[in-house]
Amino acid sequence: MRLDKYLTDLGKGSRSTVKELIKKGRVRVEGVAKAKPETPVDETSVILLDGEQLKYSTYEYYLLNKPAGYVTARTDDRKKVVMELIPSGRTDLSPVGRLDEDTEGVLLITNDGELNHRLVSPKHHVKKTYYAELDADLPENAGEILGQPIEFSDFTSLPAEYEKITARSAYLIITEGKFHQVKRMFHHVGCEVTYLRRDAFGPLTAGDLAVGEARELTEEEVALLKKGHL
Ligand code: URA
Repeated sequence: MRLDKYLTDLGKGSRSTVKELIKKGRVRVEGVAKAKPETPVDETSVILLDGEQLKYSTYEYYLLNKPAGYVTARTDDRKKVVMELIPSGRTDLSPVGRLDEDTEGVLLITNDGELNHRLVSPKHHVKKTYYAELDADLPENAGEILGQPIEFSDFTSLPAEYEKITARSAYLIITEGKFHQVKRMFHHVGCEVTYLRRDAFGPLTAGDLAVGEARELTEEEVALLKKGHL
């Protein structure tokens, strides 16, 4: 790829900003400061910006423990977006699926468009575990109802796995990701969700990642997602 693309991919500025950096000699390619925007480079090239070596990888994968109060979007005019919490300058990252603004928990963010597409496709049935707190006692037959398809106005949910924790809290495991799905499923059994957190997305869990923090996936985690261990 061209050197200017390499630098913009890494979030070092717009095409014109990085061209300026190159012109000023602030970028060294293989020890040489006389690079041009079109100088060909690849992932293995040794490239320094202001003396600091850069690391390029085609794909980046982050697990964010999303806090409430952030929208799942790349940009928003008024609200805080999850991308602000990702420690990467890359501008081509996108969330995989979405969590509501008031939902916390595991959210995958990547620029691997193919994997993203695969993971949100209804064909792939990624298991998502949600922990929910409710405003009313769960009915005795909640598991029975949630364990069968439920007809909503716009879709019919697949049977979900339900595990009651207390009178007003439960886990729900679903394999789809329709708009407000978990809230709507609990509404269907007569309870409103007062707190919602996603504890697992396929093989990914937040572990000891604090709310609001993000980390890169390990190679093993990426391999599990790619192999379809969902
Ligand atoms: N279901 C919901 O209702 N909200 C979420 O954020 C995720 C699943």
